[in-house]
Amino acid sequence: MASCLAYKGYMVIGVDVDVSKIKEISFGRPPFYEPRLREMLSVALGRKLFSCTNNYQHAIDNSDISFITVGTPSKADGSIDLTYVKEASKGIGEALRSKEGFHVVVVKSTVTPGTTKNVVKPIIEDSSGKRCGVGFGLCVNPEFLREGSAVHDFLNPDRIIIGGCDGRSSVILEDFYRKLYGRRMPKVIRTNPSAAELVKYANNAFLAMKISFINTLANICGKVEGADVSIIAKGIGLDKRIGPLFLKAGIGYGGSCLPKDIKALISFSKQLGYKPKLLEAADVVNEEQPLKAFSMAKEELGELKGKRVAVLGLAFKAETDDMREAPSIKIINALISEGASVVAYDPKAMDTAKKIFKESISYAPTSLNCIKGCDCCIIATDWSEFKKLKPKEFVENMRTPLVIDGRRIFNPSKFSKVLKYRAIGYNNLQ
Ligand code: UDX
Repeated sequence: MASCLAYKGYMVIGVDVDVSKIKEISFGRPPFYEPRLREMLSVALGRKLFSCTNNYQHAIDNSDISFITVGTPSKADGSIDLTYVKEASKGIGEALRSKEGFHVVVVKSTVTPGTTKNVVKPIIEDSSGKRCGVGFGLCVNPEFLREGSAVHDFLNPDRIIIGGCDGRSSVILEDFYRKLYGRRMPKVIRTNPSAAELVKYANNAFLAMKISFINTLANICGKVEGADVSIIAKGIGLDKRIGPLFLKAGIGYGGSCLPKDIKALISFSKQLGYKPKLLEAADVVNEEQPLKAFSMAKEELGELKGKRVAVLGLAFKAETDDMREAPSIKIINALISEGASVVAYDPKAMDTAKKIFKESISYAPTSLNCIKGCDCCIIATDWSEFKKLKPKEFVENMRTPLVIDGRRIFNPSKFSKVLKYRAIGYNNLQ
């Protein structure tokens, strides 16, 4: 968000408590891989529109709006940890104490309903000595961008949700976005803070449900002779009430948002005395889904001890190096625990993977090198470079050509003709 705003000509000051991150970003190196980000950051830094600091006072004194974008990780019981949100609120509040004029604070972090009004607002009021709506304004404005297309999503939002604690800041924020997006300005929904907070959870929970729904159908298809879940997805996706997106069956959703947010919504709902069975089911389906690929490997190979398994793709999705909650982790751990030797390759997530698996697996420099001499290859991320692999290449390089397509990236009939092809939601056991 900071890079995009600065790229668009706004003066942006990024605040972080992590000095090494500040240094890296100031040198034009984003702390993670994201398409187009390095280029946007470099332009922003070059134009001197983006700077980073750990000094709240400097940032608040020299800006009109502050966006809180810190993480809200899961606690052991699934509820969210507000430590960073509280720290950021306090830092902003203390700096606001000596600032003159109206300053707008915007909560972009994903927080459960009531957090902005009952946690953020009192912290800022106490630490600033000012009242919300008078000395400062406060809004909730959830973020919907996806990793791997974050820059595109920021520049082309589907909608803007603003939940204002006071009327004035909502108007200022909407006006800010109108100037930013111009003719591309999407629909705006102005509401209260709790509703805005809940929209974000509802959005991610719905996406998670859609994926777990199609994965449920995929698991049924796996038991029906000749069935293919991609036909089911196509068939239902043409119904305008359902739509074609987020119906790609596979080894389940990972990442920093869907798994965490559905768990947080479940925990929040239970605290209110309501057991959200539908959400719980989506979560359970997803917890089990990665192991479907592992079970297929076992069905085909029998004893895994002494077998060499290639895992192509480690990131939770393509175009990122992020492995948080990646289904690949569960699959690899299961393979290792049954004595298989695992060799892995990912175009961007190798460094992340080395921190997780260390010496317990081996790492290949390319996909062809990864599958060489293997008894089985599991596709765990839908990187486009994997989609280009030909059945012939598996046959020529593997010890026994067995492909388990955990992301449905290959053409089943083409692959089935020349090698043993298994895929989530595809039954060719005729
Ligand atoms: C998600 C939301 O999409 C975004 O709006 C929110 O701001 C943050 O959380 P992200 O986690 O970046 O974004 O990835 P997303 O594209 O939603 O994919 C999440 C996971 O679902 C990935 O592991 C992906 O492989 C999987 N997925 C997605 C499927 O298995 N099938 C699909 O059809 C779509």
